[in-house]
Amino acid sequence: MIFKTLTMIKNILAIETSCDETSVAIVQNGNKVLSNLISSQIKVHQNYGGVVPEIASRMHVEKMNLLIEKAFLESKLTLNDIQAVAVTYGPGLEGSLLVGVVAAKTIAALKKISLIGVNHLHGHIYANFLLPKPPKFPFIALIVSGGHTQLVLVQKHFQFKVLGSTRDDAAGESFDKIARFLELGYPGGPIIEKKAHIGSDKAFKFPQAMKKIGYEFSFSGLKTAVIQEITRLKKEKISFKIEDVCASFQKAVIDILILKAIKACQDHHINQLVLCGGVTANQTLRNAFEKSCSEVGIQCFVPPLDFCTDNAGMIGAAAHYMYKTKKGINSNIKVNPNLEI
Ligand code: KG4
Ligand code: ZN
Repeated sequence: MIFKTLTMIKNILAIETSCDETSVAIVQNGNKVLSNLISSQIKVHQNYGGVVPEIASRMHVEKMNLLIEKAFLESKLTLNDIQAVAVTYGPGLEGSLLVGVVAAKTIAALKKISLIGVNHLHGHIYANFLLPKPPKFPFIALIVSGGHTQLVLVQKHFQFKVLGSTRDDAAGESFDKIARFLELGYPGGPIIEKKAHIGSDKAFKFPQAMKKIGYEFSFSGLKTAVIQEITRLKKEKISFKIEDVCASFQKAVIDILILKAIKACQDHHINQLVLCGGVTANQTLRNAFEKSCSEVGIQCFVPPLDFCTDNAGMIGAAAHYMYKTKKGINSNIKVNPNLEI
């Protein structure tokens, strides 16, 4: 790893291509997002019921230059105004990550500016530093995305201690799998949330796994319980409402997340909880956390909606603080699909 000392960085060009969103942002001083463009590939992957890695990489290549051009137009800056390029180098799909990293390395080399490799999970957490009033250290972070469900103690900038993770499916993954089983489409989160709005969350009592076991999660048992119950109802020709299934499933996920996140805060005597990751785009979840946290005197932080699901704005924010706190940058980036926090 090569660290290089830097002069002032004001404007960062950030690139995120870890999965099925091509995103380019320009972030000023770590908290002013001049442009945050996201080109989603959902419509294409929907035909396959999930992300097809090969197609994802190809589509990142197709969109990259266009998005960079657009970001500069929108921000009214040029490449000459940029002092660093930030890029996600993991975790994620290898081919997808490579597209972003090659683009970032090329721009940085051409313009002789700094290159900052960012961990995608750090990006999700730092989306909260785009809030007008960001959290203060120490805080507990709950990452809930399509690939991760983790409770993390954050002592100071880039000092993470994982308290617990999921033993099987991630929370977002369970939304996607249930939606797939119910033949609702992909990605499952937003579709299930919409259906849940008009359903009853008391119609079914689905299990919450590992309620009493520390800070770890498990969502595969919940998934199996939903599948078994619906299969039974269908077999016995008992009618049910999909909306009720969605609402009851969603409640089971939200309740266990809240229970464990608040426990982590209380056990560590920390009164700030920082939520992040695609699942936090769920308004029902946001409201439920807000309510439960305020009841026990915990301040809850959630990123602005545009910065919950994958986006380059959060990568630019994390890069700003990486630079600022480490007084140097990682310029020798190698993609790492299995990178941990
Ligand atoms: O953070 P993200 O964009 O990508 C990863 O890093 O994985 O998260 C994507 C996940 C998907 O599983 C998607 O179903 C879920 O976030 N998601 C939601 C909602 N919007 C996206 N889950 C529940 N409710 C939502 N509104
Ligand atoms: Zn993500």
